[in-house]
Amino acid sequence: MTDIQPRKSVSPAPTSWEYAPALESRDVVTLRERYGHFVGGEWLEPRETYATISPSSEERLAEVGQATAEEVDLAVVAARDAFSNGWSNLPGSERAKYLFRIARILQERSREFAVLESLNGGKPIKESRDVDLPLAAAHFFYYAGWADKLEYAFANRRPKPVGVAGQIIPWNFPLLMLAWKIAPALACGNTVVLKPAETTPLTALLFCDVLRQAELPPGVVNIVTGDGRTGAALVTHEDVDKIAFTGSTEVGKAIQRELAGTGKRLTLELGGKAANVIFDDAALDQAVEGIVNGIYFNQGHVCCAGSRLLVQESIYEQLIGKLKRRLSTLRVGDPLDKNTDVGAINSKMQLERIEELVAAGKEEGAEIYQPPCKLPEKGYWFVPTVFTNVAQSYRIAQEEIFGPVLSVLTFRTPDEAVEKANNTMYGLSAGVWTEKGSRILSMAQRLRAGVVWANTYNRFDPASPFGGYRESGFGREGGRHGLEPYLSFDE
Ligand code: NAI
Ligand code: MG
Repeated sequence: MTDIQPRKSVSPAPTSWEYAPALESRDVVTLRERYGHFVGGEWLEPRETYATISPSSEERLAEVGQATAEEVDLAVVAARDAFSNGWSNLPGSERAKYLFRIARILQERSREFAVLESLNGGKPIKESRDVDLPLAAAHFFYYAGWADKLEYAFANRRPKPVGVAGQIIPWNFPLLMLAWKIAPALACGNTVVLKPAETTPLTALLFCDVLRQAELPPGVVNIVTGDGRTGAALVTHEDVDKIAFTGSTEVGKAIQRELAGTGKRLTLELGGKAANVIFDDAALDQAVEGIVNGIYFNQGHVCCAGSRLLVQESIYEQLIGKLKRRLSTLRVGDPLDKNTDVGAINSKMQLERIEELVAAGKEEGAEIYQPPCKLPEKGYWFVPTVFTNVAQSYRIAQEEIFGPVLSVLTFRTPDEAVEKANNTMYGLSAGVWTEKGSRILSMAQRLRAGVVWANTYNRFDPASPFGGYRESGFGREGGRHGLEPYLSFDE
């Protein structure tokens, strides 16, 4: 026993714990100076271009095309040719092979895609690496499995592809939304013209390289870049059979008006203002993690974000205390740093929208809390924020902020929780935290939302259908339900 050294009686003075930067290398990504549109398996030289930047540094990354109506037309023609000349008649088992290949190549190249996603969109690398990429690959694997089983999925209904699908996606999960759109469309035998969001085109353009590697027949997937004008040209194109849109409620409504009476198929996945409901019997520390994941994941740029926290009054003080303490540990900064929890806001425009709504919250009388936080000098940033003393009528309780901003309300009884949770024009998602299984079931039944998570939040699986109702849109993505919008039936 004598060789055991006594411990020093005086421990060193406590220092603050700082994580050393752990930067993911950018070297895996090779950017081109300029990108065209991917039409009929070839790069089409764009007539007009604009610069796409990194929102964390404002660095210019590449020049990309702003597709005109004529260029959109070329893409639709290519998609129609590919549809008629083979793709729609290919046996499902053959289509499945391409989808499996795409899934495997995404897995193989996932680091490259994750870095590019974080660079162009501002999300933390640990999220693009651990969430966006695995889920995007999983989606292709999942729908590859359905491609030869459509007759089984819809027995006696003779499922057939719809034709050319026009797909318009947002900037919050660029590659993942691409996967959600393209995988079921191809599994069902359709061809595609997809338009990524104007601020985040680069992973969609890199994906064209995957399509070539997978030897997908030319024209089955075409990608045109550009802003809302390009999207509008795709929506109004006569030879598009179906539009799938994910984005703002405002644009979704405009598209619905545009398509009314045309016979074109439409699915809309729009905004949300989800309630995350915490009962007094919930495991509070776990609930705090769920609240943080619900609203600060991806800087709150999440349509199903738990942006309205409903807390039972008896645990209010305790829960808010824990939440504020947890907030002060979030690391905001360089998206390519593996320690970063909250990255950059996607664009200047989105930052201004967040700032406007936060100013409105203060003005209307809510109490704001932001942990001390040093933000980088360049780029677009917003400190994780909590508003307490929020009334249901405030804009921050009604409107989608789409940023790292949580509005806290309270309730006394389950009935009051349901009433407040449903007091919104949206209906995309909700969360319930309680130890009682019966309460989970009764809440899930009464909450008017497409997805209800219990004792978890923001959990996704390709087998699980996702979508909303009311002003959150209609149609489902994921699961067997996600095939339906891409099929027509004989009856
Ligand atoms: P947005 O709805 O304008 O953009 C989404 C996509 O639609 C983009 O690809 C865009 O180029 C395209 N687009 C825009 N106008 C179009 C038109 N007239 N016809 C066809 N396509 C069109 O959304 P934005 O302006 O980027 O964000 C505004 C707000 O919308 C956000 O603050 C957020 O609240 C909400 N939003 C919700 C999303 C969701 O996942 N539910 C995604 C993005 C934004
Ligand atoms: Mg817009």
